[in-house]
Amino acid sequence: MAERGGQRKARCFSTPSPTAISLLEKTYPTDATTNVTSAIAQKLSRNLYLQPAHPLGILRALIESHFPTFTALSGWSPLVTPAKNFDDLGFPPDHPGRALSDSYYVNRELMLRTHTSAHEVEVFARGERRWLLSADVYRRDEIDASHYPVFHQMEGARVFPASAAGVAELEDNNARLSAHLAQSNIVIEDVPHLSTTNPAQPSHDAHHAGLVALNLKLSLNSLMLALFGGRTGAGEEPLRVRWIEAYFPFTSPSYEVEVFFHGKWLEILGCGVVQQRTLDVANVPNNVSWAFGLGLERIAMILFSIPDIRLFWSEDPRFLSQFTPGQITTFKPYSKYPSCYKDVSFWVPSEGLHDNDVFDLVRDVVGDLAEDVKLIDNFTHPKTNRTSRCYRINYRSMDRSLSNEETNSLHVDVVSRLKDVFRVEIR
Ligand code: PHE
Repeated sequence: MAERGGQRKARCFSTPSPTAISLLEKTYPTDATTNVTSAIAQKLSRNLYLQPAHPLGILRALIESHFPTFTALSGWSPLVTPAKNFDDLGFPPDHPGRALSDSYYVNRELMLRTHTSAHEVEVFARGERRWLLSADVYRRDEIDASHYPVFHQMEGARVFPASAAGVAELEDNNARLSAHLAQSNIVIEDVPHLSTTNPAQPSHDAHHAGLVALNLKLSLNSLMLALFGGRTGAGEEPLRVRWIEAYFPFTSPSYEVEVFFHGKWLEILGCGVVQQRTLDVANVPNNVSWAFGLGLERIAMILFSIPDIRLFWSEDPRFLSQFTPGQITTFKPYSKYPSCYKDVSFWVPSEGLHDNDVFDLVRDVVGDLAEDVKLIDNFTHPKTNRTSRCYRINYRSMDRSLSNEETNSLHVDVVSRLKDVFRVEIR
C-alpha cells in the first residue's frame, strides 16, 4: 500500500446509529473509531468485479484467463481485522495507512480492507500455490475523476519450493517465458533483481531469490503484453514496460511496473518477493513466493477509455449496455451534462478538521453527484489565529442534467451537515 500524504489528524462521525452499524446484513457495535459512512456501507454488496459484462468483470476474467493454472478466488468479505490488513504484513505501528484519516474502521477490531494483500496469509495457509484473488478495497482519499473511496484490486502469487526441485521448476518456467517474450513486440526497461537498496531477504539464498524475482518479472511482462500489447495506438511501435525499485513492508525485493500508453508512463502495479514472515505465519515454511497487486479501475480506465471513475458505479443502461463479456471495447461517452460549481467557506473548529472528513461528508450527502471537491483557499488569520478554508464542489451527474433547485438544495444540505457534524462556522 503506497503511503498517502496530507494531514493525519482525523475526526470521525458514525452513521447511521451511534451505537451500532449494519454492514452486509450483520450488526456491529460502533466506537470512537467508527468512520464508515452510509455511502460506503451501500457499496459493500455491489460486487461490480463479479459482473461478467462490466468492464471490471471483463478485465478480471481476462487476467484470470492469462493465468489458467492459477486458482481464481473472489467473494471474500471486505471486513478484516487491522492485524490482517497491517500487522501480519509487517506494517509498523505508526504507518500512516492505519490512520483514521486514511482507512475506514467499523470499530477498533474491524476495518474495511485497504488492499487485497490483507488475504495473503489466509490464502497461503489454505495451501494455494498459484492463486489470484479479486476484491473491493476501501481507502479514504480525495474526490476527483480518478479517485473513488472504493475500488478493486487483484492479488496474485506463485509459490516455489526452497529446494533443488524449486530451482529446476523456476529455470524451466523462466526459459519458457523468456522465449515467448523474445518473440514479442515488447521493450523492457529493467532494474537489477537485487541491489543494496532492494535486497534479498536474509533467510533466502540470493541465487534462488534472483530466480524468483526473474520469474515474477517475466510473468508480469507477459501479462502486460496480453493486456496492452497491440493496443498502444502507435501502430507497429513496441509495448514499453518499465520496472522501478519500490518498497512494501511485506515484500523484498519490491518493484513497481509502469507501462507507456498514449504518450504517458502509467503506474500499473506493485509486486515483490513475499517476506518470509508472511509464509511462516501461514505455516508454509521452506517455500519462496512472489506476489503482485494491481488496481483494476486504473487498467480498465485505460483499456476501455473510461474517463471518470464514477462511471463504473453507474446503473445507466447507456453505460452498462456498451460492454460484452470477453471483449475490450472503447467506451463511447454519452453527452456530458453541465457542471455547477459551488463554494463553501468556513472557520475550522479548534480541534482541526481533516480534508478526508470533508470529502466523505460530501459523498455521504450527495453521492456520485459530486464530480470533484477541491480545497481552493486555506488561510490562518494573523490576529485571531483561526483558520478559514474554502472548498469548491463541482456538482455534475453522469446520467442527467441537474436543475438549479436540485444543486442548490444539495449544497444547502452539505453546508448544514458540515455545521452539525463538525461544528464549523460558515463564513
Ligand atoms: N498491496 C499493495 C498496494 O495496494 C500492492 C502489492 C501487492 C505490493 C503484493 C507487493 C505485493 O499498493
